[in-house]
Amino acid sequence: MEFIATAKIGLESTVAFQLHKLGILDTETLDARVKFRGGYPEMAKALLWLRTAERLLLTVGTFRAETFDSLFEQTKALPWNRYLSPTTRIHVNGKSAKSALFSVSDCQSIVKKAIVESLKAAYRVNSVPETAEEVIVEVGILKNEVTLALDCCGAGLSRRGYRTYNVAAPLSETLGAGLILLSRFFPDTPLIDPMCGSGTIPIEAAMIANNVAPSLERNFAAEAWRFLDPKVFSLAREEAQDLRRNDRLCIQGCDIDPHCIDLCKKHAKKAGVMLDWRVRPVKELSTEWRSGVLICNPPYGERLSDASSVKALYRDMRRVFERIPDWQINIITSNRDFESVYGKPADRRRKLSNGGMVCTMYQYNPERK
Ligand SMILES: C[S@@+](CC[C@H](N)C(=O)[O-])C[C@H]1O[C@@H](n2cnc3c(N)ncnc32)[C@H](O)[C@@H]1O
Repeated sequence: MEFIATAKIGLESTVAFQLHKLGILDTETLDARVKFRGGYPEMAKALLWLRTAERLLLTVGTFRAETFDSLFEQTKALPWNRYLSPTTRIHVNGKSAKSALFSVSDCQSIVKKAIVESLKAAYRVNSVPETAEEVIVEVGILKNEVTLALDCCGAGLSRRGYRTYNVAAPLSETLGAGLILLSRFFPDTPLIDPMCGSGTIPIEAAMIANNVAPSLERNFAAEAWRFLDPKVFSLAREEAQDLRRNDRLCIQGCDIDPHCIDLCKKHAKKAGVMLDWRVRPVKELSTEWRSGVLICNPPYGERLSDASSVKALYRDMRRVFERIPDWQINIITSNRDFESVYGKPADRRRKLSNGGMVCTMYQYNPERK
């Protein structure tokens, strides 16, 4: 079977890397998605373990269509009875880009009608009452190529379940994990986030360091699929539970706002990780660890009123981070003037998207390597 793990632009390579670590080697990396082949055990592992994928889809069919008739006929011809019973509730989501079939709502209703007709023919019934479990079908059309797929996850994979309170401008959990996987962090590397907000980066780092499957505590849409043996999930969860470690970690999260640090403590408790949290302005950063990885997501200064205070903050950051020359420094911001204000060109820049905003992750390698 073919699965599609969707991802934010810039994080595709991290998804492929994680799939390979899970032993899933048959992968193809494309823009904003990674395709892989496997069975249901691989699907369950991917759902539990992928830290940077947004969603996981099971491909039912792909074809080219430029008219509604063609969309209807080719959808109807697919083997929907492999996945859906005559009583399944069918919910169709859709998106279309650069295609003749651009009306998403029309495509959704045509796909739904075609699936219903396909099921009526396959089960030799006159109607499909849709009274049982719900299955979400995704129709995606890009440059007239249609992909029909089942949504395996339900709520997006960024919803791990530990972050129940929000601060202003939190990172998504998937992007937080992505920044860590793109940095030089290893399980025993000290890590500091000096502006940690709701704690996303330190908590994701702790889960990586202790080999905690990020979605261990949540459920997935695929668990309601009637054709799937529930043992697939129980076995994958047992295995993930066994692989979890409980090592002491050198991970610290700080913020100037005491309310944020209170939330971080609650979120870390929910995620089952023990970390060092401190109320501390970045100006006062100090550490006993000689080297490590610093990752931070400072305010961006999007509002005009914030622009000058954010510039002063970026200058302070440069002064403070110079005190720890053996650390790798990673800063994500959408602020286009970042490097000139910070006063140092980055060793590497990575384009990422944060809540629809184009951002750059500026990476500064340690001065003494
Ligand atoms: C964009 S938010 C970080 C969000 C965080 N990554 C998350 O996922 O929740 C920026 C954070 O920087 C903190 N902050 C602003 N100025 C600071 C300073 N001078 N020192 C330390 N923290 C600061 C704010 O309180 C805020 O929580």
